[in-house]
Amino acid sequence: MRIDIITAIPALLDGPLSHSIVKRAIDKNLAQIKVHNLRDYSTKKHKNVDDYPFGGESGMVISVEPVDRAITALKSQRKYDEIIFTSPDAPHYEQKTANKLSTLNNIIILCGHYKGIDQRIRDHLITMEVSIGDYVLSGGEIAAAAITDSIVRLIPGVISDATSALSDSFQDNLLSPPVYTRPSVYGEWKVPDVLLSGHAAKIEEWKMEKALEKTKKIRPDILKK
Ligand code: 6GU
Repeated sequence: MRIDIITAIPALLDGPLSHSIVKRAIDKNLAQIKVHNLRDYSTKKHKNVDDYPFGGESGMVISVEPVDRAITALKSQRKYDEIIFTSPDAPHYEQKTANKLSTLNNIIILCGHYKGIDQRIRDHLITMEVSIGDYVLSGGEIAAAAITDSIVRLIPGVISDATSALSDSFQDNLLSPPVYTRPSVYGEWKVPDVLLSGHAAKIEEWKMEKALEKTKKIRPDILKK
């Protein structure tokens, strides 16, 4: 799978894409992730990519031209399955969206900008819009990194234990049960006996019970789905 990310601040994506599972996916050639600097597509003298909004509001708005040029350049090289825009004023991104996107070949993620982008980009170039939650980030880069991570870890072969991505919180509308590691006793804090029992069926039952209990308590809304 190939993911092209278009941003005016490429440095914000350096860290999240060069460690851990995403790095492993890139190293194993299971994912190709390319970050493109929107400024490289500016035709302006100072490489600006934004301008004052019509209608006299505060803040700058990303212009059509550099985005159109960037997307057109990418489209001339391959066919894209989705061109995604990150913005708080968009439908919520969820695990089922990540699952679907992980089956695609090529996607573009255009990072949003705090005062927005010219609506014509959204109307004519974008095929999908996503928000990662009800709070405002200064830009879409952190959202793009989150989305990329959530997709890449689902690509077959990226996580060695094939079942582990499927047992994640949200995959079955349940939060994950608590987990423990050695030592089994740390001062007064003990690991639940059942986990040390070696009784596989009882352990599975306990995990399901804990997952349900936790979901009911902190996310009853996902249980109803
Ligand atoms: Cl996708 N972008 C920005 N700027 N803020 C957000 C968001 C996205 N999702 C939640 N808040």
